[in-house]
Amino acid sequence: MAIINTADLERLQQQLRRFARVGLAQLPTPLEPLPRLTAHLGEPRVWVKREDCTGLGFGGNKLRKLDTCCAKPSTRVPIPWCRAGWCSRTASARWQPPRPSWVCLHLAVYHGRVEPPSPAYESSGNALLNRLFGATLHAVPWLGDRNQAIDRLADELRSRGRRPYVVPYGVSNALGAVGYVSALLEIATQCATLSFTPRAIVHCSGSGSTQAGLAVGAASVLPDTDVVGIDIDAEPERVATDVRKYAVAAAEMLDVAVRRGACRGGRGSRRSSLWPRSRSHH
Ligand SMILES: Cc1ncc(COP(=O)(O)O)c(C=O)c1O
Repeated sequence: MAIINTADLERLQQQLRRFARVGLAQLPTPLEPLPRLTAHLGEPRVWVKREDCTGLGFGGNKLRKLDTCCAKPSTRVPIPWCRAGWCSRTASARWQPPRPSWVCLHLAVYHGRVEPPSPAYESSGNALLNRLFGATLHAVPWLGDRNQAIDRLADELRSRGRRPYVVPYGVSNALGAVGYVSALLEIATQCATLSFTPRAIVHCSGSGSTQAGLAVGAASVLPDTDVVGIDIDAEPERVATDVRKYAVAAAEMLDVAVRRGACRGGRGSRRSSLWPRSRSHH
């Protein structure tokens, strides 16, 4: 495997510096070895990128994306969704100082992803956090265009004289993908310090910009590393299309040359691929 090129790392770092951050996420997150899992599997060596350690609202991958998406000067009112992590991370961001008194948060809460929800569903995990962070919750169906549901909510708020700032499903758009390139840059920098080049980065993929950011970053500094997304939404075509769309747009924004095929979704494609959710995954 090729040695990680420090000039490439520096170049990507420079490109990312052009995008402001609010400072919501505590970065960098650690890269830790998993010796017992590695011993259990025999090979390869397995490491974990501790994206659970990003801090605010119990951390998670969405904070990097929010950090970039909410840094736009016109930021007003975020409107996201479901009992997934990004909702409660967005809700928690509201409490990050400086906290203007006019900021209020409306969440589109998707219903129907887990059928049937257990009795504890509404009072635990992210559903509980959304309430503790003081968000106003709006129930919308899980099926269909999730961003359309958020847009409808934004229209309704506008008709009441509010000025909503819309955060899309999963904090996924081109800017969200740019935000997530920083995770790849950290991984590459940490691996360079540890003197190895990862063969593959495996992660879950849903709204798409996590994989898009990883694929764009890898195309730039880890060209021999495969980025393998596991589709957790069980919508392989939609997820692959979104990954491709955000990756192409983010690469353009960062002025990164992405090789043809590097950001292709779909099982089996090289470098960035999307695998279906396993039947036993819930
Ligand atoms: C830990 C983690 N990684 C990745 C994802 C998927 O990210 P994305 O929605 O950007 O595809 C999720 C989705 O909720 C997640 O919880």
